Amino acid sequence: MVLCGSGVSAESGVPTFRDAMTGLWERYDPMQLATPEAFASDPALVWQWYQWRRQLVHEVAPNPAHYALAELERLLPRLTLITQNVDGLHQRAGSADVVEFHGNLLTDICPAAGCGYRGAGGEPADEASGPPPCPQCGVGLRPAVVWFGEAIPGDALDRAFAAVADCDLFFSVGTSSLVYPAAGLAEQALAAGVPVVEINPNPTPLTPAADHVISAPAGTALPAVVESLRQPVHQQDG
Ligand code: OAD
Repeated sequence: MVLCGSGVSAESGVPTFRDAMTGLWERYDPMQLATPEAFASDPALVWQWYQWRRQLVHEVAPNPAHYALAELERLLPRLTLITQNVDGLHQRAGSADVVEFHGNLLTDICPAAGCGYRGAGGEPADEASGPPPCPQCGVGLRPAVVWFGEAIPGDALDRAFAAVADCDLFFSVGTSSLVYPAAGLAEQALAAGVPVVEINPNPTPLTPAADHVISAPAGTALPAVVESLRQPVHQQDG
């Protein structure tokens, strides 16, 4: 299984969260933009920030890391791809089965209790000012991302825990391994004796515990992993 973080999209031009100088949380306060409380107190500000991020994602393309992961899905008999990324770039690169642990930036949901509306978000430029009304109930929509203090979608959590309990190799790619429960998946794999490979140009709290560390950008390392799988395996006699 593969757990991805924002470093996987960095080479597409999508900013990470915690990298010095370029990380979103270096420039913006997550408590004012990425919490249910922030949305309740200033829905227009929060909406506009997410529209800016939507616009950014519309303007970029998947990079070799995303394409390599899509290829890995085709090459291996079984692969569970868990992503913390909300940008939809895995799907655009051709990954058919993506577990979106932190939701999806390009989808709208209705926050009203009992409504349940979920649909594709509109064009960022057309909806720049504030949350558009829910087509079902009229309440202002929100992006389908997981905010601080919110639960991970139950089906994503179930699939992630099931996959980690049943995998034979765990890749942690482009994540700072600081945000739980996602960061706990690698710990769970290590505790079960599953080999853990980290791909990240910078050290993280996972680095000392990982079985293998590939200290390189995902856009270089993942295509190399795929290439190595394509090489014919030279079996020993017998
Ligand atoms: P972070 O910004 O915390 O970490 C990004 C990681 O990517 C760092 O460890 C970088 O070293 C690494 N990195 C940068 N460029 C890379 C590259 N080209 N190839 C590989 N790695 C690279 O982002 P996440 O770990 O994704 O949650 O953050 C986890 C969660 O925190 C996010 O999903 C988001 C954020 O708050 C929510 O919004 C709920």
